[in-house]
Amino acid sequence: MGWDLGNLVAKGMDQDRRKIGMLDGLKILRGNIDAFRMGAYPGEAFLLPTPYYPGFDRDLKWRTGVEIVPIHCSSSNGFRISSSALEEAYQQARTHNLKVKGVLITNPSNPLGITMTRTELSHLIHFAIDKNIHIISDEIYSGTVFDSPTFVSIMEVANEKIQQDAGIWNRIHIVYSLSKDLGVPGFRVGMIYSNNQMVVGAATKMSSFGLVSSQTQYLLANLLSDKKFTEEYMKETARRLKKRKEKLVCGLRNAGIGCLKSNAGLFCWVDMRHLLSSLTFEAEKELWRRIVREVGLNISPGSSCHCSEAGWFRVCFANMSEQTLQVAMRRMKLFTDSALSSVRPTTDTTTRSLPRWISHTQLSSHDWEFNTS
Ligand SMILES: Cc1ncc(COP(=O)(O)O)c(C=O)c1O
Repeated sequence: MGWDLGNLVAKGMDQDRRKIGMLDGLKILRGNIDAFRMGAYPGEAFLLPTPYYPGFDRDLKWRTGVEIVPIHCSSSNGFRISSSALEEAYQQARTHNLKVKGVLITNPSNPLGITMTRTELSHLIHFAIDKNIHIISDEIYSGTVFDSPTFVSIMEVANEKIQQDAGIWNRIHIVYSLSKDLGVPGFRVGMIYSNNQMVVGAATKMSSFGLVSSQTQYLLANLLSDKKFTEEYMKETARRLKKRKEKLVCGLRNAGIGCLKSNAGLFCWVDMRHLLSSLTFEAEKELWRRIVREVGLNISPGSSCHCSEAGWFRVCFANMSEQTLQVAMRRMKLFTDSALSSVRPTTDTTTRSLPRWISHTQLSSHDWEFNTS
């Protein structure tokens, strides 16, 4: 494809054609990870920070037979990846006789709506060096960052910290697609960026099973080669997302609901623990059902994203009109007013085995848009 991805791809990724493979969307890319020989054989595992995009179960696990081993992140540190959680996941995989092939991150995160810090990325790289494993960074939301801190790609940190002849250099891969940043999921345009010629070569060969149509290529080449347009488009996207997110946060605050402080994505990670009848996933599912039935909103319960704490939900804000959002927030307020007057949180925690997170401390104030606790 002869387009200029300059305004869309991250710093740290040069536009060397030999490092880029194009495919029809990310789903096929994941399905073919085994063909790349960088992972994905039965008996092998990828470590994934939780909560994560539920599609990974289908695209990575079911299609290739690899296991996904969760890196448990918790609200105690704003769902950041800690070194101890990374090591714990690695050891858990080993205990189950799984060979850890790599870590798959999503930066910015779906469902958290946050970008990873330079320090986190640097820790991750050193972990991958230490364990001799790959890193796949899904940067599909990199163009949705609407607030500081700015987006930092793993490739940018790798460029700063690693010698180009180091082994890890060939084990860092970025996957990207135009689905989110350009709002064209139906176009099915995905790409892989890697310094590893074997990976890019395999992706290029596999692309014959999922070619991007010439009409799509022609249209996008015209669109993306217009630097002025893409620059303005990205700026306007960020402006609108920020405004819309603030509306959602404000509406939820009015209903007594807090969110994790976010700076990216098309959704917020919302804390409804205080609306649960008990701190369990059954209660989370029941709350989800009530919100669908009584409020008419379909939001994603955290358990569908493998969150290890009950009571968190992903709420999308970019796929509706402003008027619809206003109606939704009005209904949420009515719902919480009546729910809060009837919720009696259980004090009996002895009959159920509760997850270990319950004893965790609360988020610190800088992690919050609005703290209900
Ligand atoms: C983190 C993440 N990766 C990949 C995908 C799939 O993208 P595509 O539609 O381009 O295959 C999604 C879609 O929601 C996603 O959220």
